[in-house]
Amino acid sequence: MGTAMVSGMLRNKLYQPEELACLGAEDGSAEALSSRTGIRHIPNLEKLLAGCEILVLAFKPQQLSQAGSEHARLSEGKLILSILAGSTLKRLDEKFPLARNIIRAMPNTPGQIGAGITCYSTKNEIDFTDREKVENILESMGPVIPLEEKFLDAVTALSGSGPAYVFEFVAALRDGGIRAGLEPEVAERLSLETVLGSARLLARSGEKPETLRQWVSSPGGTTLAGLEALEKGNFRSLIADTVLAAKNRSMELAQD
Ligand SMILES: NC(=O)c1ccc[n+]([C@@H]2O[C@H](COP(=O)([O-])OP(=O)(O)OC[C@H]3O[C@@H](n4cnc5c(N)ncnc54)[C@H](OP(=O)(O)O)[C@@H]3O)[C@@H](O)[C@H]2O)c1
Repeated sequence: MGTAMVSGMLRNKLYQPEELACLGAEDGSAEALSSRTGIRHIPNLEKLLAGCEILVLAFKPQQLSQAGSEHARLSEGKLILSILAGSTLKRLDEKFPLARNIIRAMPNTPGQIGAGITCYSTKNEIDFTDREKVENILESMGPVIPLEEKFLDAVTALSGSGPAYVFEFVAALRDGGIRAGLEPEVAERLSLETVLGSARLLARSGEKPETLRQWVSSPGGTTLAGLEALEKGNFRSLIADTVLAAKNRSMELAQD
């Protein structure tokens, strides 16, 4: 996700490569990012933070526990922008109490190609200049929506985890096509293009999904027969349960 943000920022010409720097762990991802994009790799945290104004946290949520008083001292006066799933503003504030402000954001994986969506909350009310900086960074992954933190577990469950549900739906559609007699490669292509095209049509039309669904289901027709099978299998309530299960897990993780 860190790589996606850097690539997006450079693609949007928000920063020049020399204005960005990264630090990773031991798997070489920061070095690789640096040599691929031209941003600086500064393996020393003190040196990295000495010259930076905004610190983006994009490591695994469990690694936050490693941050200690040194990190608190070094981040004084900086903007902290975290994309760590389940790490609350309260928890981030415990680790970075001297920061100018803390932003908790929840992007999603289509952000890797600039087609994501991100919601964010801030610890303190954010002024115009900082808001612009933060939103510009997050917009490198797609549209951005500010929201109260109380909604972020639901956001995680819907847009954060949502791409996985869509991938599963594409796989299910493909398998259905195979059972209906198609060759696997053809079924795979048809299922992907159908989901892609339908989402684009929906976005472009500005209509509700129910309206578009109605337009393609004539009485006594094939689509209606398929939709009736979906209804019989409680498709909508299954998806609602899916989102609620993910939300509950997000709340549990925040407690941990
Ligand atoms: N993937 C998603 O859909 C998604 C959506 C929303 C939010 N998020 C959040 O985004 C974050 C990153 O997810 P990811 O999927 O991109 O994970 P990832 O591919 O495992 O990347 C984690 C990165 O953190 C680096 N790292 C590890 N320890 C570090 C340390 N102590 N200091 C600095 N950097 C360190 C790793 O460097 P090395 O490679 O050198 O070890 C690696 O580059 C997670 O917190 C996740 O909750 C992900």
